[in-house]
Amino acid sequence: MIKAAVIGYGNIGSGVVSVLRENEAAIRRQAGDAIVPVCVLDLRDFPGDVMEHCVVRDIREICGNPEIRIVVETMGGEHPAFEYVDACLRAGKHVITSNKALVAAFGPRLFQTARENRVNFLFEASVGGAIPIIRPLISCITGDPVREITGILNGTTNYMLTQMSEQGAEYQAALKTAQELGFAERNPEADVEGFDACRKIAILSSLAFGGWVDYRKIDTTGITGISKGDILAAKAFGFSVKLLGRAKMEAGTLYARVSPACVGPEHPLFAVNGVMNAVLVRGDKMGDLMFYGAGAGKLPTASAVVADIVSAVRH
Ligand code: HSE
Repeated sequence: MIKAAVIGYGNIGSGVVSVLRENEAAIRRQAGDAIVPVCVLDLRDFPGDVMEHCVVRDIREICGNPEIRIVVETMGGEHPAFEYVDACLRAGKHVITSNKALVAAFGPRLFQTARENRVNFLFEASVGGAIPIIRPLISCITGDPVREITGILNGTTNYMLTQMSEQGAEYQAALKTAQELGFAERNPEADVEGFDACRKIAILSSLAFGGWVDYRKIDTTGITGISKGDILAAKAFGFSVKLLGRAKMEAGTLYARVSPACVGPEHPLFAVNGVMNAVLVRGDKMGDLMFYGAGAGKLPTASAVVADIVSAVRH
């Protein structure tokens, strides 16, 4: 039996525990051993929850417990997530995270710490929710240099834009529903101002083009300036409005930006609606590859975290 701890028992963290429990037999088959969540770190209490009696308040209860081999970080944000993850890696634990703010800001430092301590630091769920995109970029698309990445990388804003276009919803009402459905960040400014998509395109660019792309240098515009009128006007001309993260390598220079764009029906991202995300990866010889799936939400994102847990156990 492999014991796991979860740091941050919110939407995604509790989803991870649910997936581990509900898919226990299938996961045991894939990993070759049972993976059991034994404790969660959170400041809140969870009366009636399956982990009610397994809540700890101090990271040292995880770092200092030699029986815990896997740590899942789903608390979000840069601090104290960085300090917690760093401490766990140094304590010899494999760490899996869904936290794009952490990976975008501290990726190289954490990779180095993981390497020095001979443990895994995996972050598939940090981009595109359930979509496998990190591993394909690292392991599969290695025979042809990536030229361009274009993605709908934020489920909340794509859901809002779709609701405004198809249901005639108002901006605020669409945002409120996205929050209720568990898609939006704790501070939804990260979604609607494009900051979340910015970190995600920075992570993808770093992996696809090499080096480490500083997300703070990416020109970013969100959807706060987009009205229902804009969307309906675009629709009248046959376009749909999407928040796109784009990165392109040209003559050794990387260009990247996040902005709303009108997308025509001939474009593969045109029909990506609701909470779905998609990443279009272009190369000279491979042509276009498209990765599509639920980009946010408790269980889709948790499923990507659990896949990383299985990978850590296997390796
Ligand atoms: N708030 C994010 C989104 C969650 O809407 O895409 C998944 O990263």
